[in-house]
Amino acid sequence: MAKTSLSNTRNTIFVCQSCGAEHRKWIGQCPDCRAWNSITEQQITPASMRSGKAAPLIVTPITEIDSSKSPRRSSGLHELDRVLGGGFVPGSAVLIGGDPGIGKSTLLLQASRYLAEQGNVLYVTGEESPQQVRLRGERIQAEHNAIHLAASTDLEAILVTIDQLKPSTVIIDSIQTTVTSRLTSAPGTVAQVRDCAAGLIQSAKQKGHALVLAGHVTKDGSIAGPRVLEHMVDAVLYFEGDRGHAHRILRAVKNRFGPAGEIGVFEMTDAGLIGIRDASKIFLAERAVDVPGSVILACMEGTRPLLVEVQALVAPTVYATPKRSAVGLDTGRVSMLTAVLERRIGLPLGQQDVYVNVVGGARILEPAADLAVMLAIISAYQERPVPANMATFGEVGLTGEIRPVGQPEARVKEAANLGFSQLLLPKENHARVREADIAVTLAPKSKVSVQYHPVRNMAEAAQAGLT
Ligand code: TYD
Ligand code: MG
Repeated sequence: MAKTSLSNTRNTIFVCQSCGAEHRKWIGQCPDCRAWNSITEQQITPASMRSGKAAPLIVTPITEIDSSKSPRRSSGLHELDRVLGGGFVPGSAVLIGGDPGIGKSTLLLQASRYLAEQGNVLYVTGEESPQQVRLRGERIQAEHNAIHLAASTDLEAILVTIDQLKPSTVIIDSIQTTVTSRLTSAPGTVAQVRDCAAGLIQSAKQKGHALVLAGHVTKDGSIAGPRVLEHMVDAVLYFEGDRGHAHRILRAVKNRFGPAGEIGVFEMTDAGLIGIRDASKIFLAERAVDVPGSVILACMEGTRPLLVEVQALVAPTVYATPKRSAVGLDTGRVSMLTAVLERRIGLPLGQQDVYVNVVGGARILEPAADLAVMLAIISAYQERPVPANMATFGEVGLTGEIRPVGQPEARVKEAANLGFSQLLLPKENHARVREADIAVTLAPKSKVSVQYHPVRNMAEAAQAGLT
């Protein structure tokens, strides 16, 4: 592709490889995402060449479309099936994202083992050799003669192989290593990732196999720089976890065929990933139960619900002005909440240092953390623990009133899914949550009946939340 000039000619555009924005001419810095040197020239087909040949679309009344023909294919892993909404849907594309080394390849190989019993599986690896995959397969007992391995990064070769093998499941590990010869840009760039994914998705829709793409998450937390892939696929699952801990969380961020926000919990062992039905055990195992100053907060990270432990410590001060210190929370907000406790509840914190910490390095900036922070401080000061199976959320105003927060259903659902059966929440949120009837949408396997404690102010919260 010859770069004719720096200004646009009719059949080229300039695309930022970082955010995917399109520009009319080459520039050193992308005005949209501010990335430097990220803009490359790309060929486009002029509209005049595309039109003309097109035949009219075949339209069908919605009532005449056969919807019974998509039986789901179970992965044999109950936690994965739950997140998918019952299993893989033929003809659909699922993206599994996560940090390198989190366990994506392990999960997909384990799922292949069961999927292979329902038809051929094509497992294309662009990162490991077939020998390495086999070795891992032996270790996690994921061997089956219907799992067909190929080490390739070449999109066109993969598509031809799909045509020949006619697999019922195609696994691409990873989408970032796949390249198409149609583009000259490097593997992993926006244009390559988008083009390869589009080609693979189109083939899945035409041929009816289930497509699974593994994708690495970049430093800023999005797959392949921008979220280009999220729009193209039917379901996006994120694999999360701390490599220091054995547990992993698989979270559906988007799902066209099932509930979004669903999570699956696994434990990484010597024999691969094991689904954990009773996830609360893992989370409760790491925290000290019945210790004053510890509160479980159901917060939202973007669209994702997350349970974190908020800890507080209250100690007599040696300073003229007592310290208010916060890790993982806004210190200014913690000072304000401490003042509200003094004035509205009469908690004598004037001679006390207050330290608040979010365990595990999370950073929570939403006001929905207020109630948990204040409850943790009261609990620490009065040395009265909060029940171990209680989770909470809610914003607190300057008069000590408790205000509703967004997405209460997602928070309640996450807490209940993880085994927290008591919920301390704003009264107004409680009305909404009951309407949504969480119990019905909860995964059928988790037999948690949630006990709600709706509260209007901090005095009520302290009454309901402390033992
Ligand atoms: P992997 O699936 O290769 O991660 P990804 O594909 O997301 O990059 O996971 C690799 C990690 O998992 C590695 O650190 C080793 C560990 N692991 C186990 O602990 N047990 C196992 O049985 C396997 C296969 C891997
Ligand atoms: Mg891998």
